Amino acid sequence: MGGVTPSKFVPAMAPSAETGGRRESGVRLHCPDMMPLSSDPLSAPPPPLGDFDHAVLEAGVDQILGLFRRLHDEGALPPVLSMVTPGTIASQIALQAPAAPEPLRTILGDIESIIVPGITQWHHPNFFAYFANSSSVPSLLGEFVTSGLNANAMLWVTSPAATELEQRVMEWLWTAMGLPNAQDWFGIITDTASMSTLLGIAAAREAAGYDIRRKGMAGRSDVPVLRVYCSEHTHSSIDKACITLGIGTDNVVKIPVDDAFAMRVDALEAAMAADRAAGMRPLAVVATVGATSTSSIDPVPAIADLCARDRVWLHVDAAYAGVMGIAPEFRWVLDGVDRADSVVTNPHKWLFTTMDCSAFWTRHQDVLRRAFSLVAEYLVTARDSQVVNYMDYGVQLGRRFRALKLWMVMRAFGTDGLAARLREHCLLARDFAARVDVDPSWTLSAPVPFSLVCFRYAPAGMSDAEADARNAEILTALNAAGHVYLSHTRLHGRYVLRLAIGNILTMREHVDLAWSELQRVAVPPAPDLLVADQPAK
Ligand SMILES: Cc1ncc(COP(=O)(O)O)c(C=O)c1O
Repeated sequence: MGGVTPSKFVPAMAPSAETGGRRESGVRLHCPDMMPLSSDPLSAPPPPLGDFDHAVLEAGVDQILGLFRRLHDEGALPPVLSMVTPGTIASQIALQAPAAPEPLRTILGDIESIIVPGITQWHHPNFFAYFANSSSVPSLLGEFVTSGLNANAMLWVTSPAATELEQRVMEWLWTAMGLPNAQDWFGIITDTASMSTLLGIAAAREAAGYDIRRKGMAGRSDVPVLRVYCSEHTHSSIDKACITLGIGTDNVVKIPVDDAFAMRVDALEAAMAADRAAGMRPLAVVATVGATSTSSIDPVPAIADLCARDRVWLHVDAAYAGVMGIAPEFRWVLDGVDRADSVVTNPHKWLFTTMDCSAFWTRHQDVLRRAFSLVAEYLVTARDSQVVNYMDYGVQLGRRFRALKLWMVMRAFGTDGLAARLREHCLLARDFAARVDVDPSWTLSAPVPFSLVCFRYAPAGMSDAEADARNAEILTALNAAGHVYLSHTRLHGRYVLRLAIGNILTMREHVDLAWSELQRVAVPPAPDLLVADQPAK
């Protein structure tokens, strides 16, 4: 098919006597080298649900509920970690899309037989790896309604409810976390903490005032090297944001941590002073509440003092643990967060909200808008001066209606219900940590402020290097068995296991199972037991 080039179009013409006084656009309906469209109408008018009927919709809904229900069925829990080998799924999928339509029932059948075996079950009660991406029935319904509405929250006018609910729910969450003055904070929901942090650092860059948005940074003698500071335990999303924004990973300064894996403020202060002395510009500090490896908490109040004194943007990454502020006895973990310039927490991690949902706030709505607003003519609306158009505050134009599921979660559980579940997870983690602590063969590797336990198998007489290798073997064997799923990290260079509790289905018996599985794979049975276990000949 021929391409359409601008030269094929003729500009609009003024009215003339030849056109009988009508204004002619001069735009030809067809480009000369376009193929004519054949007229091949559908054989029948589509039924009310587009091309598909109610029965198949109901079958699909039943199937989704079935996926959820089987995770409640203690007798027949599926493996938590997908057991397929690389390429298994791809080999079952046709190399090209079908030309002819296929029945939806066939496709739903393939979901069961091909796709589900390749799914690692993130909301399985025995999922203890990374941090949870938790879900819940209200959130599942919220996603379904979102899909049913298919709203695009890019402009207020493209779905006023999507924008106004997002604004209100972001105020709800801020206040629920025990943080003050929600009205002074601008909230926006993004897909991930990685994107939220990108927005925070982009706003910091805009606030610095070098007009980088327009002029870029390359070849400019008036822009110093910009530096971003975070602890050596900060999530990799900080580096990724700095890669994307042209700051460069060499300018992400990793500040050492103390014994509790929290950023050392003295080291931060020294690093910023040294950089200034060298002609560089401290742009932003990222403090973490609930760091990925250990869930450690950086000293936000002291970092906020430093940032205020030196006029440096403070971004708080509370992706995992920020929601803990919903439980009043944990509010202290967010001390100083209201003095930050931007903050992120992820309801899709530990607030029972289906992927994806990341909550980002800034005190500087104007700066964020300056960083990103770009209004093409076709996006101008008559309401622009009265409303928030969320497309002005980020990279995306089209935006999912994520606020709906968060609203449903917050209403269906209530903040008391959410706090009770979060608290329970912390209690389960403390109990697990206590077991590790009293067992001479195991050792705790970090404090347990929330629901993450870092630990390792280290019986007397085993060297550190041997223990590294043994713990890696334990993790492989444990996960291969498929009953529970844990992950690992390295602390002070040593290989450490992580058990993170965050799933709404996880109860004491699941944590017990994790402990007994760990014992089973770590501690080989005594030789006499092996003999006794042999089947009788
Ligand atoms: C502290 C912290 N920040 C950021 C992230 C990135 O989250 P996302 O996957 O939403 O980008 C994680 C992920 O685990 C995290 O633990």
